[in-house]
Amino acid sequence: MIIDAYLTPYFNDNEKQFENSIIIMIDVLRSSSTICAALFNGAKEIIPTDTLDKAVSIYSSLSKENRFLGGERNGLKPSGFNAGNSPEEYSADVISGKSVIISTTNGTKIFSKARQAKARLVGSFVNNGAILGHLFKQYLNDSDKSEEDNTRIIFICAGSNGRLAYEDTLCAGAFINSIVNLRPDVRLTDSADVAKNLFKLHSTDLKEFLKNREHASLLKEIGLENDIETCFTFDLYPVIPHISGGSIKIFDEKELQ
Ligand code: MLT
Repeated sequence: MIIDAYLTPYFNDNEKQFENSIIIMIDVLRSSSTICAALFNGAKEIIPTDTLDKAVSIYSSLSKENRFLGGERNGLKPSGFNAGNSPEEYSADVISGKSVIISTTNGTKIFSKARQAKARLVGSFVNNGAILGHLFKQYLNDSDKSEEDNTRIIFICAGSNGRLAYEDTLCAGAFINSIVNLRPDVRLTDSADVAKNLFKLHSTDLKEFLKNREHASLLKEIGLENDIETCFTFDLYPVIPHISGGSIKIFDEKELQ
């Protein structure tokens, strides 16, 4: 088993490279965390789109009682949308049973990548334990420790406008560190090793460290400090969001049979 990490989202998109892979997509601030919140609070599905226009068009095609439109540009709710990109806006009373269409600046663009992968999941600090439990159950169980196992678990980070973002890298690093602790036989690529080592370096003051990085500082400036606290809290929304076709739903074991 090989563990890899793409610390920025712009890579050679030769989709064949993902054929034997399990992908975990990460955008801690805030798409991954908000998607986990919405699914945890009973959304039927999340439909991510790259543009606001597409989001509005999908929203318009659905029946009134079953739809919810969310997203963000420059951190703020786009005009006419039901919600911005704060996890707390996706509470059960407003999204339960609904299709949530969401478009954000960086995060929702990564969810359409790596379509050839065996499985694609959404990860964040808020569902760290749920994702790890799933990976160990499905792909990292003791039975397969052969040297020839070339299956890859790949963490793809949304980053920020094509650049690396600390919170995504450290989130990938937290996953990788836990995997290595329980399965020291896995092989790490250089970038997976960097993510793991950076996480270890900051693991004792993780929240404090991340609160003062670029993206969190921007959110603070526009009054969204609560979101930072929420998105950096481990296991707040213990769900396994599974990307299938154009939508993200809570993982259903039957889909992998
Ligand atoms: C993004 O997709 O760039 C984000 O989730 C930005 C944000 O809402 O803070």
